[in-house]
Amino acid sequence: MKEGVTWLSQDNMESTIRDIGLAPQGQLKIDWVQAHMPVLNTLREEFEKTQPFQGKKVTICLHLEAKTAYLAKVVQAGGAEVTVAASNPLSTQDDVVAALVAGGVHAHAWYGATDEEYHQHLHRALDFEPDYIIDDGGDLVSTLHKERRELLPKVLGGAEETTTGILRLRAMEKNGELAFPMMAVNDAEMKYLFDNRYGTGQSVWDGIMRTTNLVVAGKTVCVVGYGWCGKGVALRAKGLGARVIICEVNPIKANEAWMDGFEVMPMLAAAPLGDFFVTVTGNKNVISGEHFQVMKDGAILANAGHFDVEVNKVQLAAMAQSCREVRRNIEEYLLQDGRKIYLLAEGRLVNLAAGDGHPAEVMDMTFALQALALHYLATVKTPLEPKVYSVPTEMDMRVAELKLKTLGLSIDQLSEEQKSYLASWQHS
Ligand SMILES: NC(=O)c1ccc[n+]([C@@H]2O[C@H](COP(=O)([O-])OP(=O)(O)OC[C@H]3O[C@@H](n4cnc5c(N)ncnc54)[C@H](O)[C@@H]3O)[C@@H](O)[C@H]2O)c1
Repeated sequence: MKEGVTWLSQDNMESTIRDIGLAPQGQLKIDWVQAHMPVLNTLREEFEKTQPFQGKKVTICLHLEAKTAYLAKVVQAGGAEVTVAASNPLSTQDDVVAALVAGGVHAHAWYGATDEEYHQHLHRALDFEPDYIIDDGGDLVSTLHKERRELLPKVLGGAEETTTGILRLRAMEKNGELAFPMMAVNDAEMKYLFDNRYGTGQSVWDGIMRTTNLVVAGKTVCVVGYGWCGKGVALRAKGLGARVIICEVNPIKANEAWMDGFEVMPMLAAAPLGDFFVTVTGNKNVISGEHFQVMKDGAILANAGHFDVEVNKVQLAAMAQSCREVRRNIEEYLLQDGRKIYLLAEGRLVNLAAGDGHPAEVMDMTFALQALALHYLATVKTPLEPKVYSVPTEMDMRVAELKLKTLGLSIDQLSEEQKSYLASWQHS
């Protein structure tokens, strides 16, 4: 493991990063995405004038690649002091982090951090004593509540990026354990309809294809979980020419998959058929020993759910006589009977750990919601209770309208007559 370095910024705040010398190439990556994030650009201009986060500290825990870096810059432009940490040790891009630090954002992260380093980084990002947080998957919130309770009274609120994080927040809320308000950004329509579906759909295949350099057309792809992400992954696999099988536990989603034209069967029946397997359930051990037992020689496993627990790596390792890296981000498990099973990116989110994540135009909408959620928390008149809050419909609509405007698209408006027709029941 290469050591990271400590970097002191002008305000004497420490950052722990790999190499500040990488900043110029990281800045180029940020400039590229900025040019493709017009909604966030509009908000940045607005925040520069209104300074909604003046004097506040914001800790952001997201996948540290260029789009996230630009979100951090937009929050900084709104007057905040910003610290970032990674939400996944394999998705951090050291050059992007260096560029952030060179631009006055504090950072504690490097690519390939061990579990211990990853947690140290979260703690350092919390030593900053944030007023607001942005989390992805719930590790920051969980660390605050379990290990850094002395900081809880200062936190005014935060926003959560993904399905898994919101499940964890709702469990905390139900147990009366959530100490500050959290905005459920994932559940906004302008988030999950585009980010989870089209973003994950495209970037998962980008990650798998660039990592394996293999053809998808003509192969059998098994998608486990037909939620918003699974729908996108399946749709794009079909578009690439694959035969697609869906495994689900929810009978409604299974019917939907069938009507969408996919084969539907239990995991045990799909296991011997698949060339590629993609898990997107947010659940654990959805592919495990009994499935590895019957898979084809050469089957390739990838996960796109938040945590690296969807493919049971412990069982896979126990069943293997050896394991070696055969290509960057591809581990080959040689089973006792001579079959080889390949796991991509250690079973972590394949699109981020073995790719650059969602397209910039998609993250433009998601991160506009994050920026507006933070703005809402910072400007709300009556302080919010410590609960999980839906993003207000007006905020969702604002992002939708801004997006249409940046696309140069216009739509029709309801007439007064139509509005009253839709709002009444006394007509035939
Ligand atoms: N890779 C990414 O960039 C990315 C982006 C957004 C969300 N996510 C993550 O992806 C995961 C899924 O998110 P989503 O928004 O699609 O959630 P979702 O709730 O819409 O869908 C999950 C689906 O998985 C199904 N499921 C659960 N357990 C299963 C099992 N054992 N076998 C088969 N199906 C099972 C559920 O019935 C559900 O339909 C979450 O962990 C989320 O945080 C990843």
